[in-house]
Amino acid sequence: MGSGNAVGIISTGRALPVSRITNFDLEEIVETSDQWIRARTGIEERRIITNDETNSELSVLASLIALERANLRPEDIDLLIVATVTPDQTLPSTACLVQARLNAYNAAAFDLAAGCTGFLYGLSVAEQYIKNGAAKNVLLIGVDTLSPIVDWQDRNTCVLFGDGAGAVVLGKVEDDRGILASKMFSDGTKAGLLYIPAGGTRCPATLRTVGERMHFIKMNGPEVFKFAVTVMIDSTLQVLEMCGKTSAELDYLVPHQANERIINFAYKKMGLKPEQVLININRYGNMSSASIPVVLDEAVDGGKFKDGDLIALVSFGAGLTWGAAVLKW
Ligand code: UT7
Repeated sequence: MGSGNAVGIISTGRALPVSRITNFDLEEIVETSDQWIRARTGIEERRIITNDETNSELSVLASLIALERANLRPEDIDLLIVATVTPDQTLPSTACLVQARLNAYNAAAFDLAAGCTGFLYGLSVAEQYIKNGAAKNVLLIGVDTLSPIVDWQDRNTCVLFGDGAGAVVLGKVEDDRGILASKMFSDGTKAGLLYIPAGGTRCPATLRTVGERMHFIKMNGPEVFKFAVTVMIDSTLQVLEMCGKTSAELDYLVPHQANERIINFAYKKMGLKPEQVLININRYGNMSSASIPVVLDEAVDGGKFKDGDLIALVSFGAGLTWGAAVLKW
């Protein structure tokens, strides 16, 4: 642990539902094809919650792994953040359900909703709490279970998403390590590009809203696509500049896994090589807030990162929101 003010990721963990849905399974449900889905998105299969699997359950499983690897007990956590747009229920927060299951009784707990950028927003919040001394050990979970709110009759969206959870423990790290810079953005004028019309307080659930399938995700895919390519590149370059680095110095790019074509556009424009980009969208689809922490944990498990590697994380999502962070591993 550092004596200074550097904050970083101490450990990681992940949990995925057991059940898989392949593109061939989807061919039976909507008018689509494995060929179309793979060519347009890079996705081959995704995980879907069944039976007792819930948002909070996946969160707990991922957290237990991260806590063990950090050599911490649940009571050592003083802040617990669940970044999600798919809480178990509207009230109370999923973070409180997770806190109870873990018995993390010293932790303040809250949910953070920032679409698919939730994990990165959580990272920047955790960083501030630790830097200013309000928290020592933060448990941050990026989790989404989108399958219950996806319209399985809408081929524009149902082929894209999957369920999963990733957890990280954040704390003080050696000087010069950890989060070197991060910046979050939002543009609420674009809220209508990705939203769920009903089920909130403006349009509560009624027989009519259920009949009109208003509790499912609606998305203007092509508009989100165009936006995503631009902001992924701009925000990564901006955050690199904030810490005096360039993309030429990057070892790895850890992008949100929404569409492999978006990722490819972005990394090529930044002059990176394919082996520098972490991708698992083929196996999990878009897991919203879980995409980055899950792909990060897989890289850690695979021994990919070396001490001192420069890593950029970047995401975008509903809101619209976007953001990036640069870490020195
Ligand atoms: O985390 C943030 C969340 N969202 C995103 O990042 C989404 C970003 N957008 C995308 O990834 C892409 O826009 C999609 C994958 C959603 C769609 O790909 P696209 O290349 O932008 O296709 P499109 O929406 O322009 O549709 C092209 C054609 C249309 O047919 P016509 O009008 O040309 O005859 C669609 O109806 O493909 C059709 N289509 C499909 N065909 C087979 C749309 N979805 C499917 C499908 N299977 N699942």
